[in-house]
Amino acid sequence: MNITIISCSLHPQSRSYVLAKELSEKLCHLGADAPLVDLREHPAPLCGTSGISENPHVQFLQESIEQARAIILTVPIYNYDINSAAKNMIELTGRRWSKKVVGFACAAGGHSSYMSVMSIANSLMLDFRCLINPRFVYATGDDFGNDRTPEMFVQSEKINERLDELAKSTFTLTAALPSTWEST
Ligand SMILES: Cc1cc2nc3c(=O)[nH]c(=O)nc-3n(C[C@H](O)[C@H](O)[C@H](O)COP(=O)(O)O)c2cc1C
Repeated sequence: MNITIISCSLHPQSRSYVLAKELSEKLCHLGADAPLVDLREHPAPLCGTSGISENPHVQFLQESIEQARAIILTVPIYNYDINSAAKNMIELTGRRWSKKVVGFACAAGGHSSYMSVMSIANSLMLDFRCLINPRFVYATGDDFGNDRTPEMFVQSEKINERLDELAKSTFTLTAALPSTWEST
């Protein structure tokens, strides 16, 4: 079962990338195939510019979404929303999101942007009939040890538990869907 994690931050010492690595490990432990796609390695052009369909990074992202049964987006919160790299990736991959299970893990600067993923969650539900996992992770700088260094790690026990819950619930929900789900 392919549960793909997409790390959407372009920051060189990204906190949400640390969440992505944790989730990938936890999902592998549960028996899932959990590839981690790092958008820093796939600099995609902005959706709407010319030559998009021939761009190898765009093609890679489209294939990654196509092959996944579930996708967990690990996203930075910018301006009370997911960052523009994440939104651009969704725009570039479009209908390939149809009927996927989708989860979120966020890194934010403070607690007041807690509901920032709701706009993109609504869009994925309404446009592509995605099943949104209502468990999500929301971490801030205080939740990380060695913050913004190459040795950064999740130090918060609560965030670790929530990552576990997100991995387990995404795995269980995806496994429980009948094979007919995607064609209904
Ligand atoms: C342009 C910009 C906008 C931001 N907007 C918000 C925001 O609205 N709410 C918030 O809590 N944090 C905000 N932040 C802080 C980031 O969410 C925070 O630095 C987070 O760790 C980024 O994720 P990353 O480390 O994976 O790149 C913003 C940061 C930047 C650079």
